[in-house]
Amino acid sequence: MAKTGAFDLAAGLGGKIEKNDVLSAVEKYEKYHVHYGGIEEERKANYADMVNKYYDLVTSFYEFGWGESFHFANRFKGESLQESIKRYEHFIALQLGLKPGQKVLDVGCGIGGPLREIARFSFTSVTGLNNNEYQITRMKELNHVAGVDKTCDSVKADFMKMPFPENSFDAVYAIEATCHAPDAYRCYSEIYRVLKPGQCFAAYEWCMTDSFDPMNEEHQRIKAEIEIGDGLLDIRLTGQCIDALKKAGFEVLWSEDLAASSPLPWYLPLDKSRFSVSSFRATTLGRFFIRSMLKALEFVGLAPKGSQRVQNFLERAADGLFEAGRREIFTPMFFFLARKPLPQSQ
Ligand SMILES: C[S@@+](CC[C@H](N)C(=O)[O-])C[C@H]1O[C@@H](n2cnc3c(N)ncnc32)[C@H](O)[C@@H]1O
Repeated sequence: MAKTGAFDLAAGLGGKIEKNDVLSAVEKYEKYHVHYGGIEEERKANYADMVNKYYDLVTSFYEFGWGESFHFANRFKGESLQESIKRYEHFIALQLGLKPGQKVLDVGCGIGGPLREIARFSFTSVTGLNNNEYQITRMKELNHVAGVDKTCDSVKADFMKMPFPENSFDAVYAIEATCHAPDAYRCYSEIYRVLKPGQCFAAYEWCMTDSFDPMNEEHQRIKAEIEIGDGLLDIRLTGQCIDALKKAGFEVLWSEDLAASSPLPWYLPLDKSRFSVSSFRATTLGRFFIRSMLKALEFVGLAPKGSQRVQNFLERAADGLFEAGRREIFTPMFFFLARKPLPQSQ
């Protein structure tokens, strides 16, 4: 069952971190970032610890505020947020041309919202790869409830060194996950290794666009807000992802920033000045409600100390994403479809 109540939120806070250690985990997490004096080399060297701490701290908030799929979507008029999220998942299945019975890999699968939808939509067996223990536990529970636990499995591992033999999968996809990789080329090379020749990899990447000016202090500030609020090391440019794909050996069949053609902005649910029932928890009133609730839950000891600090950096992330989206300097939906070529003789 989805955990969307206030007590579910409180119970899941901190993930696998001991409740008494949540506050110090928040402090350690914050110290990795520029704003608190952190440096990029240190974030990169400790990427697994930083990203895991981040997801232990925020998963419960994500599920409470957004649902089982932890990603954005391009938006069409007349569609609810949840409808657009599902359509966006179907789109990736369609681009990969998934066929019943195929073996598919979901790289950085979260708690498996997209995995369950794609497995049911395409009649495929999807393996969810994730480095976060708490999310894997939640995914197993939800896969069981959804009835896909016989055909879909999960593996706890780092996508920089996957525990699969080469040429294992008929298709691979990654939704807003490989942006956490310390090195895109090494990550895509691992994906290339486990994908069968002639088959495809598709992804939605978080990227800075060509409108991002690294010399502009405001742009730099917004980028840093997104990095701290979303557990990221250093957001790459769209061109850097394409270069990394080609260097890894992929043939890029199609790439496009879907934000540019979205009839409604993807960042609409983050607009706190707008009232929305479906994304109420992101509005000013909704945020105030969550902050007050967390204060009360922390006070009576039901939520661990540090929970309000997590809510604070998530709010900063939402504001950073909104600003970056409005200025078109960032996209969470740089889509690409890439193929592992067949060996020359074939
Ligand atoms: C924004 S979430 C997206 C989750 C999922 N794709 C979805 O759309 O619901 C990013 C995911 O990448 C996973 N991740 C980050 N770094 C990873 C790594 N090095 N190895 C495996 N998974 C990783 C996180 O644990 C998290 O589940």
